[in-house]
Amino acid sequence: MDYSLFKQEIHDIIKIDLNCYKEQQMHRRILQWISRHDLIDYSGLAQALKTDQEHRKKFLDYLTINTSHFFRDPSVFAYIEQEVLPTIKKNSNVRIWSAGCSIGAEIYSIAILAEEQRLSAATFLATDIDQFSIEQAKEAVYRQNQINYVPEHLLRKYFISKNNHYELKKSITEQVTFVKQNLLTDIFEGNFDLILCRNVFIYFTSESQQKLIAKFVNSLKKGGYFVVGSAEHIINPSQFGLARVSYCIYQKQ
Ligand SMILES: C[S@@+](CC[C@H](N)C(=O)[O-])C[C@H]1O[C@@H](n2cnc3c(N)ncnc32)[C@H](O)[C@@H]1O
Repeated sequence: MDYSLFKQEIHDIIKIDLNCYKEQQMHRRILQWISRHDLIDYSGLAQALKTDQEHRKKFLDYLTINTSHFFRDPSVFAYIEQEVLPTIKKNSNVRIWSAGCSIGAEIYSIAILAEEQRLSAATFLATDIDQFSIEQAKEAVYRQNQINYVPEHLLRKYFISKNNHYELKKSITEQVTFVKQNLLTDIFEGNFDLILCRNVFIYFTSESQQKLIAKFVNSLKKGGYFVVGSAEHIINPSQFGLARVSYCIYQKQ
């Protein structure tokens, strides 16, 4: 089986279209996985994915790279805290979406800041393609290295420390709705005041990135904010109807 045929097989088995991801990077990661698991070739991997549910789960987890932690890029969160939340707080039906939410650290960081600002009527949506990450997000139990950037007073207020792990309190977790979603194929909800899609489309081809940005902008209210990861600059944001307002942060015009 060659790589093109393998991509088709993968699409059928795990419903991910690898053609939307950067070819070299994905190809290298898949070859690493094959060698690490002594699977010999693409056919061996395809067979394992078809027959072994656990292998399928772990492979999807590996492929989609789900590293995340609370208050990742603190300067971005500082701007959200000081400028974005106080602005959108004035709107009715405030809606916030973390697209590619991984283990939930990003949306929970926002929900904590919103709680601190008494933005109580907000709706929080978090979506990811990886069911395993979503399960972890719902569980909301984190390791030390995932909460290192949580300010001390917020850590004390919102987390319960248990055997070297930190459990986020229900008052925050209950505010967030997690949904499994493939950003490349599924329909988006609309009317958001703030969308975060960080460290997700770095792995996509530039064509997929452009399409996604347009879809996100379409899902924003006028004046809504769009936040990307530190390695994901939007070149010429005005072509999407966006203006750059801060490091990694854009606003719909
Ligand atoms: C590196 S994590 C980013 C987590 C978080 N946004 C952050 O910046 O800390 C990337 C996430 O994107 C998700 N992802 C990758 N491809 C996706 C797709 N096509 N649709 C939805 N989520 C996807 C992965 O499962 C993973 O959880």
